[in-house]
Amino acid sequence: MLIRPRRLRKSPILREMVAETRLSKDMFIYPYFVVPGKNVVHGIDAMPGVSHFSVDTLLKDVEKSLSLGINKVLLFGVGEEKTEDASSSYDKHSVVANAVRVLKREFSDDLYVITDVCTCAYTTHGHCGILEHDYVQNDKTVDVLAKMALSHAQAGADMIAPSDMMDGRILGIREKLDQHNLENTAIMSYSIKFASAYYGPFREAADSAPGKGDRKAYQMDFRNPRETMRESALDEYEGADILMVKPALAYLDVIKSLRESTDLPVACYNVSGEYSMVKAAGAKGWIDEQKVIMENMYAFSRAGANIIITYHAREIMEKGWI
Ligand code: PBG
Ligand code: ZN
Repeated sequence: MLIRPRRLRKSPILREMVAETRLSKDMFIYPYFVVPGKNVVHGIDAMPGVSHFSVDTLLKDVEKSLSLGINKVLLFGVGEEKTEDASSSYDKHSVVANAVRVLKREFSDDLYVITDVCTCAYTTHGHCGILEHDYVQNDKTVDVLAKMALSHAQAGADMIAPSDMMDGRILGIREKLDQHNLENTAIMSYSIKFASAYYGPFREAADSAPGKGDRKAYQMDFRNPRETMRESALDEYEGADILMVKPALAYLDVIKSLRESTDLPVACYNVSGEYSMVKAAGAKGWIDEQKVIMENMYAFSRAGANIIITYHAREIMEKGWI
């Protein structure tokens, strides 16, 4: 007798029943770019469907996201004053701190607010830290990141997401938050963040490209899977609540290994370049955009991601693709 796996693929009802991977809106985190000013909605060229918002317009857009079932946002600050020491990044009235206050005042616990913590959009040189002698100084940078995290947490952020890749920054941030009685503010670490060309469109959106050099002296080498396990174990030890792999599509193997090596929730960041490629090919009619987007989302989930940070979240919910 022939064994016939096709028997279970015969009808949609059957296929739904035996599906091994499922997606839920609760897995999505939607990123937002916040800029100073009023009444700003400024589309980002290389990322169709994604815009810069000022705090007032952000409020309206988040309301729309919430009505679609997206209740977790990740905020990036853009367009603040750039200095050598990134001091605008930890200003009490930074655009991110202001946005957090306004969002939490308006939506309270209906909305979960996460903030990106890194200096690259706040430094003249565009590096993710304090630059001295052409080298990003680790421990000085951790001090700045801890201050930045504190300013966001004091504004009411539910979770802090450091994306810089300094050593010891999870511990530095955790201690700073705890000293200020913010022991319930969570930390999602960009723990496995590769030096990747897939961040191209984001750097334009965030005006955060390094003026000179690259980020290879702090972000990870994509040839080193063993080292990823070491990095993420350190972040877990230092007190991270969630670990992340970034980018996502080219690193499904890393997502899978991380899922198998930790008991913490695993997030992946489907980054700007991954988004732009799909949108560009879709606009040309070279791929079926909806199908490719959903195939990618299932790939993240199948690889083991419990949380997906993606610019596609809004369209997926708007069009009812899940
Ligand atoms: C900043 C930061 C970057 C991204 C998130 N935070 C860019 C970088 O490290 O150069 C990338 C996000 C994306 O490409 O969507 N540290
Ligand atoms: Zn950075």
